[in-house]
Amino acid sequence: MASDAHTRKPVGYVSVQVSGQGGPEGKASPVGPPFHGGVNIVVDPLAKRGGYGTAIIRALFDEPALADVETLGGAVDATNTGSLGMLRKLGVTEYTERKVGTKVFRNFIFPRPPAH
Ligand SMILES: CC(C)(COP(=O)(O)OP(=O)(O)OC[C@H]1O[C@@H](n2cnc3c(N)ncnc32)[C@H](O)[C@@H]1OP(=O)(O)O)[C@@H](O)C(=O)NCCC(=O)NCCS
Repeated sequence: MASDAHTRKPVGYVSVQVSGQGGPEGKASPVGPPFHGGVNIVVDPLAKRGGYGTAIIRALFDEPALADVETLGGAVDATNTGSLGMLRKLGVTEYTERKVGTKVFRNFIFPRPPAH
Protein backbone atom coordinates (compact mmCIF):
# COMPACT_ATOMS: atom_id res chain seq x y z
CA MET A 1 0.00 0.00 0.00
CA ALA A 2 1.29 3.45 -0.84
CA SER A 3 0.36 6.34 1.44
CA ASP A 4 0.68 10.09 1.18
CA ALA A 5 3.86 11.10 3.03
CA HIS A 6 2.10 13.94 4.87
CA THR A 7 -1.49 12.83 5.49
CA ARG A 8 -0.65 9.07 5.71
CA LYS A 9 -3.83 8.41 3.71
CA PRO A 10 -3.61 5.37 1.40
CA VAL A 11 -3.50 6.59 -2.20
CA GLY A 12 -2.56 3.55 -4.19
CA TYR A 13 -1.16 0.07 -4.39
CA VAL A 14 2.02 -1.17 -5.96
CA SER A 15 3.56 -4.61 -6.23
CA VAL A 16 6.95 -5.61 -7.54
CA GLN A 17 7.85 -9.10 -8.66
CA VAL A 18 11.59 -9.52 -8.51
CA SER A 19 13.31 -11.83 -10.96
CA GLY A 20 16.97 -12.57 -11.53
CA GLN A 21 19.34 -14.47 -13.68
CA GLY A 22 18.98 -18.22 -13.40
CA GLY A 23 21.77 -20.76 -13.35
CA PRO A 24 22.56 -23.24 -16.10
CA GLU A 25 19.40 -24.64 -17.65
CA GLY A 26 18.14 -27.86 -16.15
CA LYS A 27 20.13 -27.42 -12.95
CA ALA A 28 18.74 -26.22 -9.65
CA SER A 29 20.72 -23.13 -8.70
CA PRO A 30 20.04 -19.88 -6.88
CA VAL A 31 18.79 -16.92 -8.86
CA GLY A 32 21.46 -14.24 -9.10
CA PRO A 33 21.96 -10.69 -10.28
CA PRO A 34 21.13 -8.65 -12.27
CA PHE A 35 17.75 -8.35 -10.52
CA HIS A 36 14.73 -6.88 -12.26
CA GLY A 37 11.40 -5.78 -10.76
CA GLY A 38 8.15 -6.21 -12.65
CA VAL A 39 5.81 -3.44 -11.50
CA ASN A 40 2.05 -3.34 -11.12
CA ILE A 41 0.60 -0.06 -9.92
CA VAL A 42 -2.80 1.46 -9.35
CA VAL A 43 -3.62 4.87 -7.90
CA ASP A 44 -6.97 5.57 -6.21
CA PRO A 45 -9.21 7.00 -8.97
CA LEU A 46 -10.01 9.91 -6.64
CA ALA A 47 -6.30 10.71 -6.26
CA LYS A 48 -5.25 10.39 -9.91
CA ARG A 49 -3.26 13.17 -11.59
CA GLY A 50 -1.88 14.19 -8.21
CA GLY A 51 1.64 13.06 -8.95
CA TYR A 52 1.29 9.96 -6.79
CA GLY A 53 1.94 7.41 -9.58
CA THR A 54 5.21 9.06 -10.54
CA ALA A 55 6.26 9.48 -6.89
CA ILE A 56 5.41 5.87 -5.99
CA ILE A 57 7.52 4.44 -8.82
CA ARG A 58 10.48 6.70 -7.98
CA ALA A 59 10.24 5.69 -4.30
CA LEU A 60 10.51 2.00 -5.19
CA PHE A 61 14.23 2.37 -5.81
CA ASP A 62 14.62 3.55 -2.19
CA GLU A 63 12.86 0.51 -0.73
CA PRO A 64 15.39 -1.53 1.27
CA ALA A 65 13.80 -4.76 0.00
CA LEU A 66 14.56 -3.65 -3.56
CA ALA A 67 18.13 -2.48 -2.91
CA ASP A 68 19.52 -5.10 -5.34
CA VAL A 69 17.05 -4.32 -8.10
CA GLU A 70 18.78 -2.64 -11.04
CA THR A 71 15.82 -2.17 -13.38
CA LEU A 72 12.07 -1.79 -13.08
CA GLY A 73 9.65 -2.46 -15.88
CA GLY A 74 6.34 -3.80 -17.01
CA ALA A 75 3.79 -3.87 -19.76
CA VAL A 76 1.21 -1.25 -20.52
CA ASP A 77 -1.77 -1.28 -22.84
CA ALA A 78 -0.91 1.05 -25.73
CA THR A 79 -4.23 2.89 -25.19
CA ASN A 80 -3.53 3.58 -21.49
CA THR A 81 -2.96 7.35 -21.67
CA GLY A 82 -2.58 7.77 -17.92
CA SER A 83 0.12 5.17 -17.57
CA LEU A 84 1.98 6.29 -20.70
CA GLY A 85 1.90 9.88 -19.41
CA MET A 86 3.26 8.78 -16.06
CA LEU A 87 6.04 6.82 -17.78
CA ARG A 88 6.90 9.80 -19.99
CA LYS A 89 7.26 11.86 -16.83
CA LEU A 90 9.59 9.17 -15.44
CA GLY A 91 11.76 9.51 -18.53
CA VAL A 92 10.71 6.36 -20.38
CA THR A 93 11.00 7.10 -24.09
CA GLU A 94 11.45 3.69 -25.66
CA TYR A 95 9.21 0.67 -25.74
CA THR A 96 9.10 -2.70 -27.38
CA GLU A 97 5.63 -3.54 -28.63
CA ARG A 98 3.88 -6.86 -28.34
CA LYS A 99 0.55 -7.81 -29.90
CA VAL A 100 -1.84 -10.07 -28.02
CA GLY A 101 -4.87 -10.71 -30.22
CA THR A 102 -6.13 -7.26 -31.17
CA LYS A 103 -4.45 -5.57 -28.20
CA VAL A 104 -1.09 -3.88 -28.34
CA PHE A 105 1.09 -3.81 -25.23
CA ARG A 106 4.19 -1.73 -24.73
CA ASN A 107 6.95 -3.21 -22.61
CA PHE A 108 8.95 -0.65 -20.72
CA ILE A 109 12.10 -0.83 -18.67
CA PHE A 110 13.99 1.80 -16.78
CA PRO A 111 17.22 1.67 -14.81
CA ARG A 112 17.88 2.72 -11.22
CA PRO A 113 18.83 6.39 -11.28
CA PRO A 114 22.49 7.08 -10.43
CA ALA A 115 23.12 7.66 -6.71
CA HIS A 116 23.67 11.30 -5.76
C1 LIG B 1 -1.26 4.97 -14.34
C2 LIG B 1 -1.55 5.60 -12.98
C3 LIG B 1 -0.93 4.71 -11.91
C4 LIG B 1 -0.91 6.98 -12.94
O1 LIG B 1 -1.04 7.50 -11.64
P1 LIG B 1 -1.23 9.08 -11.37
O2 LIG B 1 -1.02 9.31 -9.91
O3 LIG B 1 -2.51 9.53 -11.94
O4 LIG B 1 -0.02 9.66 -12.22
P2 LIG B 1 0.67 11.08 -12.06
O5 LIG B 1 -0.25 12.04 -11.38
O6 LIG B 1 2.00 10.85 -11.46
O7 LIG B 1 0.74 11.48 -13.60
C5 LIG B 1 1.95 11.75 -14.25
C6 LIG B 1 1.65 12.27 -15.64
O8 LIG B 1 0.97 11.30 -16.42
C7 LIG B 1 0.09 12.01 -17.34
N1 LIG B 1 -1.27 11.53 -17.08
C8 LIG B 1 -1.72 10.91 -15.98
N2 LIG B 1 -3.04 10.60 -16.15
C9 LIG B 1 -3.37 11.03 -17.38
C10 LIG B 1 -4.57 10.99 -18.14
N3 LIG B 1 -5.69 10.43 -17.65
N4 LIG B 1 -4.58 11.54 -19.37
C11 LIG B 1 -3.47 12.10 -19.88
N5 LIG B 1 -2.29 12.17 -19.21
C12 LIG B 1 -2.25 11.64 -17.97
C13 LIG B 1 0.26 13.45 -17.10
O9 LIG B 1 1.26 13.94 -17.98
C14 LIG B 1 0.74 13.49 -15.69
O10 LIG B 1 1.48 14.62 -15.38
P3 LIG B 1 0.75 16.02 -15.12
O11 LIG B 1 -0.45 15.77 -14.26
O12 LIG B 1 1.83 16.81 -14.43
O13 LIG B 1 0.39 16.55 -16.49
C15 LIG B 1 -3.07 5.76 -12.73
O14 LIG B 1 -3.62 6.47 -13.81
C16 LIG B 1 -3.81 4.43 -12.57
O15 LIG B 1 -3.92 3.91 -11.46
N6 LIG B 1 -4.34 3.88 -13.67
C17 LIG B 1 -5.08 2.62 -13.65
C18 LIG B 1 -4.17 1.42 -13.47
C19 LIG B 1 -3.06 1.39 -14.48
O16 LIG B 1 -3.26 1.70 -15.65
N7 LIG B 1 -1.87 1.01 -14.01
C20 LIG B 1 -0.66 1.00 -14.82
C21 LIG B 1 -0.42 -0.28 -15.47
S1 LIG B 1 1.26 -0.30 -16.08
